[in-house]
Amino acid sequence: MIFELTEEQKMMQQMVRSFAEEMVKPHAAEIDETDEFPMDIFREAGKLGLLAINMPEKYGGSGADSTAAVIASIEIAKASAAVANIFSSVRHHLFCMYHYGNEEQKQKFIPAMAKGEIIGSFALSESGSGSDASSIKTQAKLDGDEYVINGSKMWITMGNVADFTIVFAVTDPDKGSKGISAFIVEKGTPGFTVGKRERKLGQKGNPVCELMFENVRVPKSCMLGEEGQGIKIALHSLDSGRIEVAALAVGLMQAALEESVNYAENRKQFGQKISSFQLIQAMISEMATDLDAATLLTYRAAYLKDQGKKFTREASMAKWFATEAVMKHTTNAIQIHGGYGYCKDYNVERYFRDAKLTQIFEGTNQIQQIVISREVLKQWAK
Ligand code: CAA
Repeated sequence: MIFELTEEQKMMQQMVRSFAEEMVKPHAAEIDETDEFPMDIFREAGKLGLLAINMPEKYGGSGADSTAAVIASIEIAKASAAVANIFSSVRHHLFCMYHYGNEEQKQKFIPAMAKGEIIGSFALSESGSGSDASSIKTQAKLDGDEYVINGSKMWITMGNVADFTIVFAVTDPDKGSKGISAFIVEKGTPGFTVGKRERKLGQKGNPVCELMFENVRVPKSCMLGEEGQGIKIALHSLDSGRIEVAALAVGLMQAALEESVNYAENRKQFGQKISSFQLIQAMISEMATDLDAATLLTYRAAYLKDQGKKFTREASMAKWFATEAVMKHTTNAIQIHGGYGYCKDYNVERYFRDAKLTQIFEGTNQIQQIVISREVLKQWAK
């Protein structure tokens, strides 16, 4: 067992770190303030191959593995969690397309997504169906050679800037979770519109919207995967997305630790650096230890994914642990900064707001606990 990055991984880390420090970090506060999608950064990342790190070169990807994608996510999240989330979302959509798309769909969408020329979205959640993914109400009825989609989706990341969406809809209401299918619907298809954009607490600049489908007609060829495979596609892709969320939390935690140490070393009270006080040291030590534990859990999940092994349980463990830890430690980062940390002049205020979403999206942490316990019970019941 080797606990060090390979030379290749270190080079990738350095390359992404430079991009994050030069292109992302200087704009992070502005993106947070304006809440505008950072299209320039996105396009540049596409040109540099940072969006499709773990896609095969055949489809315009960088041909690296998921561990490399985790390394990249951590570096970007240190600069801006919102930008890291945007890049991770692209990888989530690429994963879906690569694993379930037919050759024609892969050729049409993956290279353009890899270059950042087109943007996708993943439309699963609805106003009444979040954690209970199988209870979606959006319907797709076959009419001749076309499916007619009706319904609406909520919380759709990048829904308003996306050129297409992967929408999950019920094709056979009698079959429960086996009656759900996935479709690719392109922007401009009559009846497909973007609704309200949510006003979020954090992760500003990464838009989340409602999508509406009113008698949207798509040919049968727009189905992604097979009929009835939708929920599997969604849950399998979410396993992968959960590793990305864990990586995002790790990056954010690293940034919170760095800023906390700097502040504690420079801030003097009672005639000494506050880093010399044991109650500050207690917070720093817990932050550093949880950061390492979260990092190792995240790398393990990515490693298993790269080995082609099942990683459902490990992805949920990494996501749960890392995101609980980042919430706790971004809170403590503000505590270390005192009143200053509660104000926008210090980055920790943004880290705290950005951290909260990680406990919720790609499956709440309560859902992660369900997934973990199910997998553990299955394993022990053998
Ligand atoms: N990979 C592949 N298939 C899987 C799977 C996995 N990880 N987990 C389950 N499945 C399969 C099952 O085998 C089953 O198929 P069969 O009947 O053929 O065996 C089918 O999927 C349904 O599985 P369950 O019966 O276990 O489903 P369930 O209804 O009991 O729900 C759940 C399980 C874990 C609660 C699941 O619904 C879940 O993960 N919910 C959370 C949803 C979620 O993460 N939403 C986030 C939305 S996206 C987002 O947040 C991003 C954004 O844009 C903001």
